[in-house]
Amino acid sequence: MIGIGSDHGGFLLKQEIIAHLENKGIVVKDFGCYNQEAVDYPEYGQAVAKAVQSGECESGIVVCGTGIGISIAANKVKGIRCALVHDCFSAKATKEHNNSNMLALGARVIGPGLALEIVDIFLSTPFSNEERHQNRINQIEEN
Ligand code: RB5
Repeated sequence: MIGIGSDHGGFLLKQEIIAHLENKGIVVKDFGCYNQEAVDYPEYGQAVAKAVQSGECESGIVVCGTGIGISIAANKVKGIRCALVHDCFSAKATKEHNNSNMLALGARVIGPGLALEIVDIFLSTPFSNEERHQNRINQIEEN
C-alpha cells in the first residue's frame, strides 16, 4: 500500500496521483488533506511518514506547493528518506542510491504530466543493493 498526503497547495495534484495509481490497481491510503482550505503541511507529511515508518505503507508520496516544507517534515521521522524530486533522472537515482522510501513533489513547481512520470519511475525502480550505497544509508540511520 502507498501512503499519500498533501497540504492545500498540493491537494489537486494529490488527487491526480491517487486516480493515476488506482487506475493501475495500486492500493493507496489517503492521509489528507481533503480540500483546498489552508492547512499546515507538517501534519500531513508526518502522518504519511509515520505510516511508512511503522510498515503500514511500503512507500509514501507527499505534495505541497514547493514540496520543500512537507519533505522537511517527513524527514524528521526516523527511518524516513524522503526525496524532493522534480525530474525523471533524480526519481530513478534516489531509489537506486538512497533507497528513498518517500517522494515529495511541489505542485506549484511542475505540472501533472511530469509529476505522474516521476511517481511511476519512483515506484518501479528498485534499490541497487550496492554495498557503497547501503553503507552511506547506514551512516544516515546511525544518527
Ligand atoms: C503553503 O502556502 C506553502 O507554503 C506550502 O504548500 C509549501 O510550499 C511549503 O513548503
